[in-house]
Amino acid sequence: MNTAIPKDIDATLELLTAGDYIADRSLATTLFLALKMGRPLFLEGEAGVGKTEIAKVLAATLSRPLVRLQCYEGLDVASAVYEWNYARQMIEIRLAEASGEIDRERLGQDIFRSEFLIKRPLLQALEVDANGAAPVLLIDELDRTDEAFEAYLLEVLSDFQITIPEIGTIRAAQPPIVIVTSNRTREIHDALKRRCLYYWVDYPDAERELAILRIKVPGCEETLSRQVVGFIQRLREYDLFKLPGIAETIDWATALTELNKIVLEPETIDNTLGALLKYQDDIQKIQGSEAAHILEEVKREMAAGGH
Ligand SMILES: Nc1ncnc2c1ncn2[C@@H]1O[C@H](COP(=O)(O)OP(=O)(O)OP(=O)(O)O)[C@@H](O)[C@H]1O
Ligand SMILES: [Mg+2]
Repeated sequence: MNTAIPKDIDATLELLTAGDYIADRSLATTLFLALKMGRPLFLEGEAGVGKTEIAKVLAATLSRPLVRLQCYEGLDVASAVYEWNYARQMIEIRLAEASGEIDRERLGQDIFRSEFLIKRPLLQALEVDANGAAPVLLIDELDRTDEAFEAYLLEVLSDFQITIPEIGTIRAAQPPIVIVTSNRTREIHDALKRRCLYYWVDYPDAERELAILRIKVPGCEETLSRQVVGFIQRLREYDLFKLPGIAETIDWATALTELNKIVLEPETIDNTLGALLKYQDDIQKIQGSEAAHILEEVKREMAAGGH
C-alpha cells in the first residue's frame, strides 16, 4: 500500500488518472505543489466541475482515510471539532454515586477523559490511521459557513492543533492533506486563502470532457459521447441561470445510454433536458428550436472534423 505523495507533476497526473480523474496539467501542478509544500489546496469553481472529487480520489489512490467536513450555515465547534458525550458522562456519575464514590474532584476529572469525547471531523483529521498515514481532510463548501467559523479554521490550518480546555492541546503527529472547496457564493477571507494554494477549477475543454465520459460512462457509444460533449460545450456559451457541469454531462450520457440511444435527436434532447438543466427558465430557453439548432451545429462540426 503506497501512501507516499507523488514525486513530480507527471506522477501526480498518473495518480489522478488511476483514480479515474482526468485533470489538466495546471491542476496537477498546483496539487503537486500543495502536497510537496504541505499546504492546504483551496479549490474554487462552479457546481459539478470536480472539486469534491479531487479529495475523494486522493484519499483512495493514496490509501488514506477521507475525513469530510461538510460546511453549512451555523456549523459550530460541537459539530466540527468535538463534543462531550453527556449521556455517557451521566451514566459514569450515576455509577460512581451507586458505588459510594463521593470524591467530587476526582469524579470531575474522570468524566473529562478522552473516552467521553466525541471526535468530529477536524479532531479526527489530526489522527493517523492504523498504518501511520495521515488522512485527507476535505473541508467542503466553506462558503456556506459564517466568518466566525472561518476564523477558527484559520487557527487549525496554521498549527494543526486543537485545544480542549479540559484535556489540553492535541497536536497532529503528521499534518493531514487538506482540500478546501468553495462555490464562491461569498468571498473567503484573504487570511485563510493566504495559507492555501489556490486553483480555479474550470469547465473542461471538449477533449478532456470526452476523456471523462469514456471513463465514467463506458457504455455510451462513441458518436453519442462526442455529440453530448459538443452539445454541452455549446450550451455553456449561453446565458443560462445555471450552466451544466461535468456531473450533468455524466448524468445526461448515462440517461441516454439507459434509453438505448446511439445518436442525439431533437426529440430525445427535449425529453431528457431535465438531466442537464435544472431551472425551468433555462429549459424553456433551450427546449425545441434552440436545441435543434445546437444539434445541427454539432453535427456539422463533427462532419467537418471527419467524425
Ligand atoms: N476531471 C474529472 N474526471 C473524472 N470525473 C470527474 C471530473 N470532474 C468531475 N467529475 C465527476 O463529476 C461529478 C461531480 O464532481 P464533484 O462532485 O467533485 O463536483 P463539485 O465541483 O464538487 O460540485 P459541487 O460544487 O456541486 O459540490 C462526480 O461524479 C465526478 O466523478
Ligand atoms: Mg462538491
